[in-house]
Amino acid sequence: MNSQNMMGKQEDEADRKKIVPKDFATVALLTLNPAIDITYTVPRLIADQKAHALTTRFDPGGNGINVGRGLKRLDVTTDSYIVTAGETGHLLTRLLAHHLDIVHYERVTGETRINGTILEQESGSQYEVSGIGPSIPPSQLKTLLDNFVTRAGRGFGVLTGSMPADISTELYAELILRIHEAGGLTVVDTHHEALRHALAARPFLIKPNRHELETLVGHELPTIELVAEHARHIARQYVQYVCVSLGSEGALLTGPEDTLYAIAPKVEVQSTVGAGDSMVAGLIAGFVRGLSSSDILRLAVACGAGTVQQPGTELFMADTVAALAPAVEIRELGI
Ligand SMILES: Nc1ncnc2c1ncn2[C@@H]1O[C@H](COP(=O)(O)OP(=O)(O)OP(=O)(O)O)[C@@H](O)[C@H]1O
Ligand SMILES: [Mg+2]
Repeated sequence: MNSQNMMGKQEDEADRKKIVPKDFATVALLTLNPAIDITYTVPRLIADQKAHALTTRFDPGGNGINVGRGLKRLDVTTDSYIVTAGETGHLLTRLLAHHLDIVHYERVTGETRINGTILEQESGSQYEVSGIGPSIPPSQLKTLLDNFVTRAGRGFGVLTGSMPADISTELYAELILRIHEAGGLTVVDTHHEALRHALAARPFLIKPNRHELETLVGHELPTIELVAEHARHIARQYVQYVCVSLGSEGALLTGPEDTLYAIAPKVEVQSTVGAGDSMVAGLIAGFVRGLSSSDILRLAVACGAGTVQQPGTELFMADTVAALAPAVEIRELGI
C-alpha cells in the first residue's frame, strides 16, 4: 500500500469516529415480539410417533433480547424495551433476570409466545417453529415507542427481528426517522418488507444474511464478489454500513472506508440459533468501543463463532470471543 492510500485510510478512520461520537455508549433495544424458546434434542423425529427428548432447555428468546444479552457479555450498557404477556411473560422475566442491564417491560393481555426448536441427533437437522405473540393495544405501543425513541436518540437504537402480525411493516422505517431526528444512530436486522421500508429511511447499519440480501436484490448471489458488489451498492445508496453474514463462510462489512471480508474461524457447531444476533451485538460493541472497521468485523465474526459452539439459544462466552477474535482473518476486497 503506498503512502497516499495510507493517508486516505487514516482520514477515513477519523471520519468514522466523527460519525460515532465517543459518548454513544448507550444502546436501546426494542423487542415487541419476544418468546420463550424451548429446545429439545431427540435421537430421531418420525411422523406419527412420539419422540422422547434427550435434553430440554428453556431460554429467553427474541432477537432484541439476544442482542442485549450479547452486549452485556461485551460490557456494553443497554436499555431493553420488551412487551410481555400472561404467565409465559412472567417466565420470560424470570429467565431474563441477570441477563440484561435495564429492562422496561410493557405488560399486555394474552400470553408471550413460545418458540420450539428440535435438534435431531441422527441427521444433525434443526427444526424450528415460531409461535404467535399477543397484540399490543395502540396506547401502550405509543408509550413504549416514545420511551424507546427518547433513549435511542442518545446512542444506538436497535430494531431487529419480527413484529407482531398486526403491526405495520413500515414501523421500523418510522422509528429510524424519529431516532435520527432525536440524534441517535440505528441498527436494523430484519427482512422482507420491513427491511425494504427501513432502507428508504437510511439507517446507520443493516445486517442481512445472504438470503435476506438476495431477497432484497431479487436474485441469487452465488459468489462473495457478487455479495460484496451488491452490499456496496446498497451502502452507497442508503446506509453507512452493510454487514452481510455468510454463516460458516464468515461475513462481509462494507462502509465509507472499505469493503472487508472475514473468514469464519473453524469451530465445532452445536446450534446456530442466535449467531446472527451475536454478530449484531459484536458490531455494535465494536462501534461503541470506537474500533477500526476491520476490528469491528473481527469482533462480530468471533461473537458469531462463539455462539455456534453453544447449545440451544445460549450465546457466546466473553472469554471465547476474546480468544477467537485476534485470529479472525480479514481480507480487503478493494472494491
Ligand atoms: N458454522 C459456523 N462456523 C463459524 N462461524 C459461524 C458459523 N455459522 C455462523 N457463524 C458466524 O455467525 C455469523 C452469523 O451467522 P449467520 O450468517 O448464520 O446469521 P443469520 O442467518 O442472521 O443467523 P440467525 O439465524 O441467528 O438470524 C456468521 O457471519 C459467522 O461469522
Ligand atoms: Mg438473522
